[in-house]
Amino acid sequence: MIFATNFKTNNTRAYTKEYIQTLKEFVLKNDIKDDIFVFPTFTSLDMFELPSNIRVGVQNAYPVQNGSYTGEIGLEQIDEFGLKTILIGHSERRVILKESQELIVEKFNYFKERGFEIIYCIGEPKEIRDEGVDSAMEYLWSEFDGIDIEYEKLIVAYEPIWAIGTGVSAKKEDIDEILSNLRAKIKVPLLYGGSVKSSNIQEIESIKDCDGVLVGSASWKIESFCEIIKNGIKG
Ligand code: 13P
Repeated sequence: MIFATNFKTNNTRAYTKEYIQTLKEFVLKNDIKDDIFVFPTFTSLDMFELPSNIRVGVQNAYPVQNGSYTGEIGLEQIDEFGLKTILIGHSERRVILKESQELIVEKFNYFKERGFEIIYCIGEPKEIRDEGVDSAMEYLWSEFDGIDIEYEKLIVAYEPIWAIGTGVSAKKEDIDEILSNLRAKIKVPLLYGGSVKSSNIQEIESIKDCDGVLVGSASWKIESFCEIIKNGIKG
């Protein structure tokens, strides 16, 4: 299983340091070999000494070395911390920050060319899901326009927008249906995200084509992220 935590706009620099240290101790003590990703805020980035299966990444970046892009960071700022992992296409960036597919593709190609591990997010809104699986798939495939789905360092995260931050995950059958449709064309690992927590992780990880989870709110405290990992690996 892959366990990823997206901090979004949460946690301080001081707490992130403590969080990552505790995570590291937990992983070493329990001899956990699963891949674990942490996406902190920009202000909490640092050089972390970690076992190779724990990777820190950025939630976003502008596809440039450096330049005049107020409020953004580029490769120079990521390189300073030796980071090689990035989250691209999260629905909060697509919807709230109005990021276009064109810009998303630009980011994807820029970081792909530089060998980054990319967690690429897709997800449909409720009204599309309500139209049925065909509409949902059409919407989701459109979010792959211009994206190289064969990139060897790609991980895809399916996060239905209506299940994010609601406390109510998508139903197992619904996730199963979407992931198996994706699996028909996509060979890289597939994650599910949307109200994953320690009480539903076992059900989610039992889904045939689910290779892991991308967790928001239930992972912002280290104790609950560890609980998710513990329940997830023993299932
Ligand atoms: P929640 O786990 O809070 O629903 O968020 C999911 C998510 O958006 C992770 O990227």
